[in-house]
Amino acid sequence: MAASFVDSGKTVCDVGCDHGKLSLFLLQSGKAERIIATDINKAPLQKAVDLITGAGCGQKAEFYLTDGLQNIGKTDDISHVVIAGLGGQTMAQIIHSAPFIKENKVRLVLLPAQSGHTIRKYLYENGFDIQKEETVEEKGKFYSCISAVYTQNTRTADIFACYIGKSRLCEGYAAKGYFSMVYSQLEKKQKGFTIENGFASRDISEAMDKIKNLTDK
Ligand SMILES: C[S@@+](CC[C@H](N)C(=O)[O-])C[C@H]1O[C@@H](n2cnc3c(N)ncnc32)[C@H](O)[C@@H]1O
Repeated sequence: MAASFVDSGKTVCDVGCDHGKLSLFLLQSGKAERIIATDINKAPLQKAVDLITGAGCGQKAEFYLTDGLQNIGKTDDISHVVIAGLGGQTMAQIIHSAPFIKENKVRLVLLPAQSGHTIRKYLYENGFDIQKEETVEEKGKFYSCISAVYTQNTRTADIFACYIGKSRLCEGYAAKGYFSMVYSQLEKKQKGFTIENGFASRDISEAMDKIKNLTDK
């Protein structure tokens, strides 16, 4: 899914590359001219090195054992940063620590494993525009892949915008599954709020109603 959001990539950063399969696909399909693959752990990064060099693409790739995008050297040619399979909070920290993303208007492709609401909130509040989303099902779990770019326009976002964002425009099996998953998360959040305050949150209820409308469509 994340790969389909990359086109005509010059240098593409694959953050948290793990086995390196995404990086290799981007190179072999011509979606990326070069790859910067990073991972915070040695063993997964080594797997990526072995896979990509073993496939004869080593000259088109650089590998960094690092947190996010720290100390990756030259950033001028970077067209895309892909972060797939990490949590929304970690994604926000990684983006925040890499000012070149804003400066060079690098396209972000983000597939949060959890806490999609945290990364959407960060993007809205920090001047990034979420341009499209695509929902996906993998092994019975539902995700939404986000494509975003820095535009300087900051906005505060309500609960619905943070939890659903542009996935509201998605249709089909994966979209319905994603909406149901988010609805359950908000149900839990509402329970917690009610226990703490003795009454239900109107904002959460409104977001849940909007999600229900999407699921019933
Ligand atoms: C679930 S895997 C995702 C693999 C791959 N991106 C994918 O979608 O198939 C998460 C990977 O991110 C790495 N990781 C976690 N936190 C990171 C960070 N702050 N910076 C770089 N890599 C990180 C982990 O070591 C692990 O290899």
